[in-house]
Amino acid sequence: MNAYSPPDDPEVVDIAIIGAGFAGLCMAIKLKEAGIDDFFVAERAASLGGTWRDNHYPGCACDVQSHVYSFSFAPNPNWTRQFAPQAEIREYLENCARDFALAPFLRFNMGLEQAVFDDTTQRWNLRFDNGHQTSARLLISAMGGLSRPAIPQIPGMESFTGKHFHSQHWDHRYALQGKRVAVIGSGASAIQFVPKIAPRVAQLTLFQRTAPWIMPKPDRALSRLERWAFKHLPFTQRLVRSALYWALESRVIAFARRPQLMKLVQRVAWRHLRRQVADPLLRQKLTPDYTIGCKRILIANDYYPALSRGNVEVITDAIQRIDGDALITADGRRHPVDCIIFGTGFQATDPIPRGLLLGRQGQDLMDSWSQGAHAYLGTCLPGFPNLFMIIGPNTGLGHNSMILMIEAQVDYILKALARMRQDKIASLEVKPEVESQYNQRLQRRLAGAIWSTGGCRSWYLDPRSGQNTTLWPGSTWRFKKTLEHFQLKDYQSTPLPHPGPLATLTTARPLNLHEAALDEKL
Ligand SMILES: Cc1cc2nc3c(=O)[nH]c(=O)nc-3n(C[C@H](O)[C@H](O)[C@H](O)COP(=O)(O)OP(=O)(O)OC[C@H]3O[C@@H](n4cnc5c(N)ncnc54)[C@H](O)[C@@H]3O)c2cc1C
Ligand SMILES: NC(=O)c1ccc[n+]([C@@H]2O[C@H](COP(=O)([O-])OP(=O)(O)OC[C@H]3O[C@@H](n4cnc5c(N)ncnc54)[C@H](OP(=O)(O)O)[C@@H]3O)[C@@H](O)[C@H]2O)c1
Repeated sequence: MNAYSPPDDPEVVDIAIIGAGFAGLCMAIKLKEAGIDDFFVAERAASLGGTWRDNHYPGCACDVQSHVYSFSFAPNPNWTRQFAPQAEIREYLENCARDFALAPFLRFNMGLEQAVFDDTTQRWNLRFDNGHQTSARLLISAMGGLSRPAIPQIPGMESFTGKHFHSQHWDHRYALQGKRVAVIGSGASAIQFVPKIAPRVAQLTLFQRTAPWIMPKPDRALSRLERWAFKHLPFTQRLVRSALYWALESRVIAFARRPQLMKLVQRVAWRHLRRQVADPLLRQKLTPDYTIGCKRILIANDYYPALSRGNVEVITDAIQRIDGDALITADGRRHPVDCIIFGTGFQATDPIPRGLLLGRQGQDLMDSWSQGAHAYLGTCLPGFPNLFMIIGPNTGLGHNSMILMIEAQVDYILKALARMRQDKIASLEVKPEVESQYNQRLQRRLAGAIWSTGGCRSWYLDPRSGQNTTLWPGSTWRFKKTLEHFQLKDYQSTPLPHPGPLATLTTARPLNLHEAALDEKL
């Protein structure tokens, strides 16, 4: 893709999408399909892919079958496995950008530094880290819920003499062969890379704070015949997708409605542990102390065998500090290592940094979210007119593919846009009472779900309020249905001014021209 060179004058655009992962690309494809072309997708990195560009650690793959973990409108008959590896998913997204001719809309190395809503013009003024400035009517945040890594503040970290990196920023130039490696964390990322690096390193010390529940992974290579059928008889892939979708979807009953059913699932995971780990002491360390489902259920066939290797040790004592070349645990033991790999996850409850999005009267989004993130339909927020978030608060899933949520939100935004056109609306802002009632209902439903009742601490829960601000407490089809109709009554709307008053705005010359053109279009 071409690098984008910013023009000299501030630019005026109808829609600015921020982020070129699954969400930003989906929005761009659907805008194009709707005949809208006055938009761009700004991406801070040099290429597209989001999660699947940034996470390239050994073993990285999706944990929802690829037939479902892909756009419904862009099936890929070429997946090589049930759970495609990272490189294939990234390639899939590159192919989508090519097939849907997105190149002219994509702008790389263009990170949003600040977006400020201007009450006078009812538009967003955007400043990017390449010096570019834009006035956009709509701002669509597709910045990802899991794109800011979390690295714990461990006392003495500055004294560490070895190499360290986070799983999201894997340093492939650093040779792990023969090294003593500490892995901190035992979540979805760590369970994928630990089995890949354990045979290469001299010693792997896994610092596990909480043992995860792990189920067998029903992975396998897809045969040439299957791929032939998916390509030449597309209905076969649609059937497989549908069957997988419903199999995954049925799990929501236990997660959200009948947490007691989780005990049955737990038995399968427990058998998996017993079958794969013979050493009773290790098995004890690896036995979780909460009900399965409370944290994300992990799937792996090679993790327990990796931990059973002679050169791997699982430490459950808390890390107290780092001193020179060693991690010191609460029992006073010194663990000298050459390298620390942080498999410590993401800032999921604080996905957007302070100072990035300023709404009406300069209100920082982070002040609105001081007690935890919230939004209406995970998409809109009072005080932030014309801001639409994709994968905003409470849109995450523990049981199915995030792409289903992304597509539902993109459809909703398109409907909002259509309504804005039809009714000549300059800006839309969700009513505070609508948003607040929606969230009260949501939190009531979440209170009885396994994520709150399962006896664990997880990144699903906001550390300030203890509320679950990340997950959707129901089925994906319920989410789709909830977002099926755009209800104007839920929003305060400001009508578009007539061309006369617009001409008196003090903004740059291109804005007036553009607004007049837009007014005509509407
Ligand atoms: C390792 C890993 C594996 C996962 N596996 C699965 C799975 O199997 N199934 C599943 O359903 N979900 C999975 N997820 C969740 C995954 O994040 C979503 O499925 C999906 O990829 C999110 O897409 P997105 O476009 O919303 O966000 P992202 O893919 O995170 O993309 C956000 C983009 O926004 C850009 N950006 C951020 N801030 C700025 C800024 N200020 N200016 C410009 N650009 C910016 C980022 O650089 C990035 O490219 C996984 C997550 C991780 C981390
Ligand atoms: N497709 C996939 O298979 C896949 C792969 C990777 C990621 N993902 C997605 O990304 C999410 C995040 O996964 P992740 O593994 O990167 O992060 P994660 O699930 O949040 O796991 C982080 C791990 O680090 C530990 N940890 C955090 N801070 C620590 C500290 N100060 N000291 C010791 N341990 C600490 C956590 O322990 P505690 O459990 O005690 O908090 C946990 O084991 C997943 O839930 C999933 O949604 C999916």
